Amino acid sequence: MLNLAQIHKTFHPSSSLSQELMSFWRRKSRNTGVFAVRGLDLEVREGEILGLVGESGSGKSTLGRIMGGLYQPDSGQVLFEGKDITTFDRKEKQLFNFRVQLMFQDPSSSLNPRLNARAALSEGLIVHRMGSRADRRRKVDQLFHEVGLTPDLADRYPHQFSGGQRQRLCLARALSLDPDLLIADEPASALDVSIQAQIINLLLSLKEKRGLTMVLISHDLSLVCLMADRVAVMYGGLIMEEFPRDQLSRSDHHPYVKALWASAEYASTNDLILEGEPPDPQNPPSGCPFHPRCPEAQDICSLKAPMTKPFGLDCRCACHFRG
Ligand SMILES: Nc1ncnc2c1ncn2[C@@H]1O[C@H](COP(=O)(O)OP(=O)(O)OP(=O)(O)O)[C@@H](O)[C@H]1O
Ligand SMILES: [Mg+2]
Repeated sequence: MLNLAQIHKTFHPSSSLSQELMSFWRRKSRNTGVFAVRGLDLEVREGEILGLVGESGSGKSTLGRIMGGLYQPDSGQVLFEGKDITTFDRKEKQLFNFRVQLMFQDPSSSLNPRLNARAALSEGLIVHRMGSRADRRRKVDQLFHEVGLTPDLADRYPHQFSGGQRQRLCLARALSLDPDLLIADEPASALDVSIQAQIINLLLSLKEKRGLTMVLISHDLSLVCLMADRVAVMYGGLIMEEFPRDQLSRSDHHPYVKALWASAEYASTNDLILEGEPPDPQNPPSGCPFHPRCPEAQDICSLKAPMTKPFGLDCRCACHFRG
């Protein structure tokens, strides 16, 4: 459904920054910019849940926004059903904006505090001139039911909802244009465990009911493995390994996947028990980005970036010693 090839995205200071802020940024970023995504290939297959997992700063949200057409990559191609999204004409772009929806990482800041829930859910329908006023009202009521909210909450403003309710509201808004592909960025991370489970169940049931394709972004490998058909593990702006869920138990995963899994299995919190720090996105390590923390690293790992190679049944791995 969606194919990403050799995607690069580096953030530079915006020209709208003041001189002082610009020179602060230049000092901080050593003038290089922030390398968020660094030559990444990935496929999202129709009907699947693809889990995208990795530590904070690995580039997951940036990639999600590129998939959703919100960020333009510096180079590389995003193909939607075989066609480069940068070559879309106005009509194709509009259809893409219908069919691909994002649930943003932070539900509070993604909702306009001045719009009540009904207005938030109607916004997309109004912008795209869909249905009459009565049709839109019916549609919003139906969306409320679908995500487990009662329509009598429709007059409330975002700050009057609980965290879990706000997340349901964001989900309803993302579904309002009946998308085919939903990109859900950390849909449950800020919630209590019991509410997390409710949101996950809701996403799974809506996926079945609506036949959605879904990209689930999370830092929590155990959660992703619970839901996803395939898992892609990101580190330092690159995919380290891609594997189907039923290959989870293999013992020869990429060392980063092994470390993530160990921390998901054994840590009492979701904090990683990996030693060392994630790579500096302004000055990423040479060779394999994971080599400074890798227990299996050898000389070649700091000298040469590994190719991504097929690795067992439907797996791909970027490691010199695998595949
Ligand atoms: N708009 C932006 N301007 C400048 N730098 C950015 C911007 N968005 C992201 N970055 C930087 O790009 C890198 C990747 O960020 P991104 O938000 O994609 O990571 P993430 O994997 O989603 O992290 P988290 O798990 O914390 O959400 C980070 O170093 C981040 O600081
Ligand atoms: Mg993020």
